[in-house]
Amino acid sequence: MKVENWEEYINEKLDKYELGKFYDVLVEDEVTSTNSIMKENAEQRQEGEVLVALSQTMGRGRMNRRFHSPANCGVYFSIVLKPDMEAKDYLSITTAAAVAVSMAVDNVAGIETTIKWVNDIYYKQKKISGILTEASIDSNAGKLKYAVLGIGININKPNEKYPDDIVGKATWIFDTEVDYKTKCDLVVEVLKIFYEIYSKISSKTYMDIYREKSFLIGRKIEYIYNNEKNIGEVIEIDDDAKLIVKTPIGQTHIVCSGEINLVKF
Ligand code: BTN
Repeated sequence: MKVENWEEYINEKLDKYELGKFYDVLVEDEVTSTNSIMKENAEQRQEGEVLVALSQTMGRGRMNRRFHSPANCGVYFSIVLKPDMEAKDYLSITTAAAVAVSMAVDNVAGIETTIKWVNDIYYKQKKISGILTEASIDSNAGKLKYAVLGIGININKPNEKYPDDIVGKATWIFDTEVDYKTKCDLVVEVLKIFYEIYSKISSKTYMDIYREKSFLIGRKIEYIYNNEKNIGEVIEIDDDAKLIVKTPIGQTHIVCSGEINLVKF
C-alpha cells in the first residue's frame, strides 16, 4: 500500500475533525526512528508535525532499549510538541498519551486495554504499545523547549517471531489482518483524543481515566526506592502519576521513576 494513500486518508480525516490546523502528518515507508528524525531539527519544526512510519530499522524504547518495529504489522509515529510547560511537568505528556492510546485502541478495536506505569499499554496482560517522550529543556527558564512524543503500536501479528527479550511479553491488537484504513483510523483516533487531552493538559482531568485504566492499584509490586529493591502494595496513583506504595511494615513510599514489576501472589 502506497504511503501517499495513508497520508491523504489521515490528513483528510483530521481536516474533517478540524484538527488539520494543529496536525500536519507525513507518512514514510521505512525510517530509522521517527523520534530520532523529529528530534534532529525539532526547534525548526512547527508544533503538531507528525511523522508516521510503517517500519523502523532503529526504533527506540525507554532505557536505551530497542523497540521492535517490523513492517506490515504496526504503526510508529512521533509528534512535535511545544507546550508552555514547566520542565518538571513533562512526564504529563507521556501519561496523557497513554490515556489517548489506550482509549483510541479500545474505540477502534472494541477491546479493553489497560495501562502499566507509565508508558506501556497492555492487552490480555501483554504489551501492545509503548510511548517514549524525549524533551529538550531551557534550563535557565526551567521550561520545556520542545518534546517529541513517540508512539509505537503493535496492530497485527508479525510474520517472524518476536525477539527473545519480548517474546511472551508483547502481543498485538487484531488477530485477523486489518487493512490500511483501519491502521490510519487508529492513528487518527490517537491524535484526536490526544489533542482533546493536551489542549487542557494542566487540568490533569485525564488522570481519572489513567487511574481507572491502570492495572497497578491494589497490586503488589517490586520497585527501587533509595537505591534498594523493595516490595509493596500500590494504594494510589497521584495526579503526577507517582505511585503511593505501602510497604509490609506500614511505611509509605512515593515512587516517581524507574522500572517496576508485578509480584505474583
Ligand atoms: C518503550 O516501550 O519503551 C517505548 C517505545 C516507543 C516506541 C516509539 S515507535 C515511534 C517512536 N520512534 C522511536 O524510535 N520510538 C518511538
